[in-house]
Amino acid sequence: MQLGYFWSFFYFYASIFFLCLGLTDCALAGNETDRLALLEFKARITHDPLRVMSSWNDSMNFCQWQGVTCGLRHQRVTSLNLMSLQLEGSISPHIGNLSFLRELHLHSNSFSQEIPSEIGRLSRLQYLYLPNNSIGGAIPSNLSRCSNLIKFHVYNDQLIGEIPMEIGSLSKPKVFTVSCNNLIGTIPASFGNLSSLESLAARENYFSGSIPNALGKLTTLRKLFLHINTFSGTIPPSIYNLSSLTDLYLAGNPFYPGSLPSNLGISLPNLRHLGMFQAQLIGSIPPSLPNASNLEVIQLQLNSLIGQVPTFGNFLGLQLFSVKYNFLGNGGATDLNFLSSLTNATNLRVLVAGDNNFGGMLPELIGNFSTTLEIMQFNDNHMVGNIPAGLQNLINLIVFLAPGNHLSGNIPTVIGELKNLQILIGVYSSFCWELNQFICIFFSNKQSSGRHPL
Ligand SMILES: *[C@@H]1O[C@H](CO)[C@@H](O)[C@H](O)[C@H]1NC(C)=O
Ligand SMILES: *[C@@H]1O[C@H](CO)[C@@H](O)[C@H](O)[C@H]1NC(C)=O
Ligand SMILES: *[C@@H]1O[C@H](CO)[C@@H](O)[C@H](O)[C@H]1NC(C)=O
Ligand SMILES: *[C@@H]1O[C@H](CO)[C@@H](O)[C@H](O)[C@H]1NC(C)=O
Ligand SMILES: *[C@@H]1O[C@H](CO)[C@@H](O)[C@H](O)[C@H]1NC(C)=O
Ligand SMILES: *[C@@H]1O[C@H](CO)[C@@H](O)[C@H](O)[C@H]1NC(C)=O
Ligand SMILES: *[C@@H]1O[C@H](CO)[C@@H](O)[C@H](O)[C@H]1NC(C)=O
Ligand SMILES: *[C@@H]1O[C@H](CO)[C@@H](O)[C@H](O)[C@H]1NC(C)=O
Ligand SMILES: *[C@@H]1O[C@H](CO)[C@@H](O)[C@H](O)[C@H]1NC(C)=O
Repeated sequence: MQLGYFWSFFYFYASIFFLCLGLTDCALAGNETDRLALLEFKARITHDPLRVMSSWNDSMNFCQWQGVTCGLRHQRVTSLNLMSLQLEGSISPHIGNLSFLRELHLHSNSFSQEIPSEIGRLSRLQYLYLPNNSIGGAIPSNLSRCSNLIKFHVYNDQLIGEIPMEIGSLSKPKVFTVSCNNLIGTIPASFGNLSSLESLAARENYFSGSIPNALGKLTTLRKLFLHINTFSGTIPPSIYNLSSLTDLYLAGNPFYPGSLPSNLGISLPNLRHLGMFQAQLIGSIPPSLPNASNLEVIQLQLNSLIGQVPTFGNFLGLQLFSVKYNFLGNGGATDLNFLSSLTNATNLRVLVAGDNNFGGMLPELIGNFSTTLEIMQFNDNHMVGNIPAGLQNLINLIVFLAPGNHLSGNIPTVIGELKNLQILIGVYSSFCWELNQFICIFFSNKQSSGRHPL
């Protein structure tokens, strides 16, 4: 009996011993899995003009292959970084075998086909960056098994289908970016459970339905980009209570008409970018808006706003202010009083107030605006008086538009000294200004006609 007991132990340990010997070293077993998975990854690369993959050969340990980083202790792949290397191909399902992988960066290549659902086997995965490829297919629901996922960046790709609601069960995501894809459906209500989320970017897709109320639970949220979709219904009031928000973009959605809450500038004190153009806004610009004194970009154009523009107090950082195509002002002499408060905005570049009901005179103090000003637009209002000669101070002005008013007198000849001025009275077509990687600001306008008349 005792002998049998001994032998069974012997066999048990001996088999482990010899098994390990058979694979040269016990610790290398996992290593070998990684090497094979990388070779499978390589096998799916169909075009590699920079010959990146030629270094993935047996002359070197795979931990030295280009783009591969291994952990020191286990010699297992912890990061795969092949950004901007003109690679074409698809992501092998064997990626799911790199079980120590924490980061996958394939930004700006030409990867196509879907994200393999085997990705769900990567329980250590923290960063998944696949933007600017042609990744298609649906977001695999198995992504919800990547319990350590912190950042999911798949924008400017070709994702289809809906966002799986299972993703809302993850506990760590801080950033979820799926802008510029072909996604449909809505943002799952389960996203209200992503209690660490700081940025949710889903602009330029085909999302529809209502924005879920549950997003109002995301108290850590700083950036919300849902613009240029087909969201409808009412904007959940709870969104306007997310006091950490620095960027709020709900623009370009066919919402049911609604107004901005009057306390907006107090409930969102950290706001820097407000993108609410073409959002069916009615009512007035919240009088509290100036309390959000960090605002840099205010885009309220293409709405049905009425009333007066509040006087800004200390919007020192304001760069862009656009309210064109609204019903602001009442043709009265004080309509443009808010302009005086912009003279301290030393970074002001764009001031667009055309197609409203602004009356009064263009104040001489526009000459006191920051010389950073490039675009000023007041066309199609009810303004009277002359174009102030102070305009000549604005040496970087590229566009000044004021037709469609009751302006009298001549254009001051000094304006001819503005060397950058390209469009004075004519109307320009459209352009897109890349303010940062997420925001493209549109100023579509009437068809271009007149040019520099001087
Ligand atoms: C294998 O990789 C090494 C190191 O990058 C490289 O110098 C060598 O040319 C590669 N061999 C082949 C056959 O591509
Ligand atoms: C690697 O992944 C593939 C596909 O998911 C699977 O069939 C295979 O068994 C895995 N190999 C190892 C060694 O884990
Ligand atoms: C996207 O990828 C292409 C090449 O595939 C590159 O030329 C372009 O600069 C990338 N764009 C961004 C924003 O990274
Ligand atoms: C996806 O997850 C399900 C369980 O949620 C599992 O049964 C399935 O094997 C997973 N698929 C892959 C490819 O890992
Ligand atoms: C959010 O989490 C709670 C608690 O885990 C759960 O009861 C609830 O169903 C979740 N909400 C959604 C919309 O998934
Ligand atoms: C917003 O916050 C205020 C003050 O904390 C609270 O009274 C109000 O009910 C909240 N509104 C929503 C829609 O959550
Ligand atoms: C908002 O700004 C106004 C004008 O500067 C100021 O009187 C008021 O106290 C501010 N409110 C809050 C809550 O900061
Ligand atoms: C501009 O700043 C100066 C100095 O800080 C201040 O005295 C003045 O009131 C400010 N003007 C406006 C319109 O806020
Ligand atoms: C505008 O600037 C001129 C000269 O630079 C100055 O005399 C005038 O007081 C300023 N006006 C305002 C309203 O700040």
